[in-house]
Amino acid sequence: MDLVLVVEATDRPNHCFCTPHAAAMCDVHTMPDARIDTAKQKMLDDQLRYRGIEDARVLAAMAKVPRERFIARRQRRQAYSDRALPIDCGQTISQPYIVALMTEALRLSGDEVVLEVGTGSGYQTAVLAEVAREVVTIERIEVLACSAAEALAELGYRNVRFETGDGTAGLADAAPFDRIIVTAAAPRCPPSLFEQLAEDGILVIPLGGRDCQQLQAIRKVDGRAMAIDLSACRFVPLIGGGGWPA
Ligand SMILES: C[S@@+](CC[C@H](N)C(=O)[O-])C[C@H]1O[C@@H](n2cnc3c(N)ncnc32)[C@H](O)[C@@H]1O
Repeated sequence: MDLVLVVEATDRPNHCFCTPHAAAMCDVHTMPDARIDTAKQKMLDDQLRYRGIEDARVLAAMAKVPRERFIARRQRRQAYSDRALPIDCGQTISQPYIVALMTEALRLSGDEVVLEVGTGSGYQTAVLAEVAREVVTIERIEVLACSAAEALAELGYRNVRFETGDGTAGLADAAPFDRIIVTAAAPRCPPSLFEQLAEDGILVIPLGGRDCQQLQAIRKVDGRAMAIDLSACRFVPLIGGGGWPA
């Protein structure tokens, strides 16, 4: 597998300078569906399969979920580009490859309950909803949680529970979880999350400094953590009691 530096955070918003009239004609705003389909197919082949994503259920989920639905309309042309993109509130929608890598690392058979910390746009949530029995997702920024819930409802997902708050504390009333995924970077694994992971469960999380982290898959074996490194990466910070200060 290629060594891939996954750049998750981005501070380069995609501004379109069209006047309202020109915007109606501009393909940044009106990229035809055929070109979206081509871009999505290239994403599956060049970004995912080429870099070693093999799980057929993960690839099918990535083929199905419309990433363009989770970004601003002016960014539509970049929907399947190989990078994270800015969303509201200074946050990001994850790069398609990192979404696929994290989902594959959870080793889902389809019968699991997954806790996601960091709903963001809801794109990763939708991919998880395709391959897990149930997803519980927590976001600290209410406006993001609301628009993600709206997008998933519109797309017909019924197996997702949305919560707002500090996800570093997990969700004791719904624990234990078969799998946990954290989509923001922490200095260390929040203890409450590891406690709420079921025995033999897997927790995927980016760990390290504020600027650069290692994506890790941590399995709970006899109550102890067995970690493997997946990739270098760069995520926005996990803010809260078990993460970074605001
Ligand atoms: C990189 S974004 C998630 C992107 C998401 N995977 C997607 O596809 O759109 C990280 C998210 O984690 C959220 N976050 C940060 N700290 C959090 C916390 N303690 N609890 C819940 N969400 C948190 C941020 O607000 C942000 O929306």
